[in-house]
Amino acid sequence: MLLAACGKEAEPLWLQGRADPLSQADAQRGRKVIERYGCVACHVIPGVRGPASSVGPPLAHMAARAYVGGVLPNTPDNLVRWLRDPPAADPRTAMPDMGLDAAEAKDVAAYLYTLD
Ligand code: HEC
Repeated sequence: MLLAACGKEAEPLWLQGRADPLSQADAQRGRKVIERYGCVACHVIPGVRGPASSVGPPLAHMAARAYVGGVLPNTPDNLVRWLRDPPAADPRTAMPDMGLDAAEAKDVAAYLYTLD
């Protein structure tokens, strides 16, 4: 009963037995990074006001997506990798390198994972 009460069962699969790569990340800071970089020019992103662009896929349900950009399994490390340099993950992608640094990419990933 005590074990059941500690909440381990609710832990996402990718977190079990691993250090959380987003433990220092801040989702609200991430939302501001998204605003600053103008990601809504290409994506509809819940919680971020924008022009309803459909250049890139809507980023709703990012937490439930199996792949990032159709090429990387959707783990926090891979989402951060994608956000830092999409063409490095997929040379044919239309998403440009937005120039996010590591901390910004982690914050953005934390925000996107609130979208389930
Ligand atoms: C010039 C348009 C453009 C801009 C600006 C842009 N993206 Fe993208 N993004 C795309 C396209 C196109 C894709 C689809 C890429 C693919 O599947 O190869 C994509 C894919 C993604 C994905 C993967 C989505 C999925 O379903 O797998 C994420 C996450 C993402 N973008 C986040 C961002 C964030 C955060 C920003 C701002 C820092 C941003 N994008 C800026 C065009 C853009």
